[in-house]
Amino acid sequence: MKTAIQAAITGVHGYVPDYILTNHELERMVDTNDDWITTRTGIKERHILKDPGQGTSVLGIQAVQGLLQKTNTDPQEIDLLICATITPDMITPATANIITHAVGAVNAFSYDLQAACSGFLYALITGSQFIESGRYKKVIIVGADKMSSIVNYEDRATCILFGDGAGAVLLEPNVQGYGIVDSLLKGDGNGEQYLHLKAGGSRRPPSIETVTAKEHYVYQDGKTVYRFAVEKMAEVVLDLMKKNNLKREELKFLVPHQANKRILDAVAQRIGIPEEQVMITIHEFGNTTDGTIPLCLWRYEPKLKAGDKLIITTFGGGFTWGATYLTWAYGE
Ligand code: UT7
Repeated sequence: MKTAIQAAITGVHGYVPDYILTNHELERMVDTNDDWITTRTGIKERHILKDPGQGTSVLGIQAVQGLLQKTNTDPQEIDLLICATITPDMITPATANIITHAVGAVNAFSYDLQAACSGFLYALITGSQFIESGRYKKVIIVGADKMSSIVNYEDRATCILFGDGAGAVLLEPNVQGYGIVDSLLKGDGNGEQYLHLKAGGSRRPPSIETVTAKEHYVYQDGKTVYRFAVEKMAEVVLDLMKKNNLKREELKFLVPHQANKRILDAVAQRIGIPEEQVMITIHEFGNTTDGTIPLCLWRYEPKLKAGDKLIITTFGGGFTWGATYLTWAYGE
């Protein structure tokens, strides 16, 4: 049941590193070509954090600093920061701790949340609970990944897909009817076999053998993940619309996780909405995992106004998936 206080997004900012890895550069690295990548995925380029010794926190810090600046927010007012990432700087401490320290959010508690490509959506809903309960007033949700740190640039099936990037949103209480309305979050651990990193965790800690066998890179059964992604995202969005009696015509934008343009097209078709109502950034950023949703909101922010109805939907490793219905809280 909905409480009187809604958690509303009151600002969004994104950051991608300067270096652009084009399809043409990938042609020189693996047996691929611009035409295959464009027609099969919709991706033209992705941004890569090249600087040695820099991790995901660098991306998150840039996004959060920009967010604080543009929303005119004193970092000391931040109560909580959650960072969704699958590529933390280190196993411990949490990348969220590193970000809060760097931006001067000295009164915030912070932690990471890992749910693969659905991490940002899970974190958004987790963070919104602290606002809706009345307990906290300013919560930042970051989605950040340096995917280039876990991608095998000798594997043409995966290296063309991913990019580095981050986005962050500010959540605040709203009593005017704007903000998060309802969500359906799902999971199925049977998905493990189709999308995972074989080594680097406690089951198979790093060793010379695991490094030699290239087991620290993303493994994906692309076809199976593709099929589930289309089916589950379309299903959960339609269920959420039905549950909230939301008509297609009322929806301003669908905000889907950006993994493959063909997945976005197929999901939109199943839902029955035109391409113009789908946020698309995959051509310029590729799949940034936890970065895709806030980067979409950041790119489309100028087109949004208060009262616009949006549905965010994600699908990723785990499997994890879900959808959230919200009304945008600002802009004219
Ligand atoms: O964010 C997490 C969720 N992830 C996803 O949702 C990703 C889902 N999967 C996909 O997006 C697609 O399955 C891929 C883009 C990964 C692959 O596209 P596909 O249309 O499923 O291609 P495929 O794997 O069936 O491969 C078709 C052919 C194969 O050659 P043969 O066996 O037909 O001779 C591949 O070896 O394309 C070949 N191929 C490539 N060719 C040129 C695979 N990668 C490449 C490449 N360049 N980069």
